[in-house]
Amino acid sequence: MKNFDLFIVARVLHVLGVVLWIGGVAFVTTVLIPALRRMPDQEKRYDLFETLEGRFSFQAKITTAITGVSGLYMLYYMDAWGRYLSLSFWWVHLMTLMWLIFTVVLFILEPLFLHKWFHDQAEQDSDRTFSVLHNLHKVLLTLSLISVLGAVAGVRGFQYFF
Ligand code: HEM
Repeated sequence: MKNFDLFIVARVLHVLGVVLWIGGVAFVTTVLIPALRRMPDQEKRYDLFETLEGRFSFQAKITTAITGVSGLYMLYYMDAWGRYLSLSFWWVHLMTLMWLIFTVVLFILEPLFLHKWFHDQAEQDSDRTFSVLHNLHKVLLTLSLISVLGAVAGVRGFQYFF
């Protein structure tokens, strides 16, 4: 396969990874957590969250890895590392930051202590814990969507802010 074909494959995989991953974050934030917060039975609420978020977390590990590897390959192919030094490529900074945050949470913090911490907090005060969880998801989803908008416009040369 020619290098240029590989670049196109990387771009296709990158967008596919982003769609599945950020689409999943949007579902969890706008559908799953609001529905769980309305459930009166706190134990059932936690169990359902565990089951559904657990499955999503497995998928998200795969899609974040695909997105990261393909993104880094594109930077390597285009020899575009210098973009990290320019503010007009703020969307490359933001994409990379979002990827870093999710990667650290999924691969390091969650297995190490976040899972247990969430369980303990939910046992003490379920409503408050799910409200904090919801707010965190809202922040991550908003920043991820800004990355997507910035990237799609930026790739096509749109430079509005800097
Ligand atoms: C390590 C992390 C990442 C790196 C190194 C990276 C790198 C890249 C590169 C090099 C491009 C192509 C730019 C060009 O053709 O000029 C790109 C496109 C794009 N990236 Fe990322 N990215 C990363 C993570 C993300 C994340 C987390 C998102 C979503 C939240 C994202 C969304 C996009 C989108 C939507 C495009 C535009 C595709 C298109 O319109 O052709 N990327 N990325």
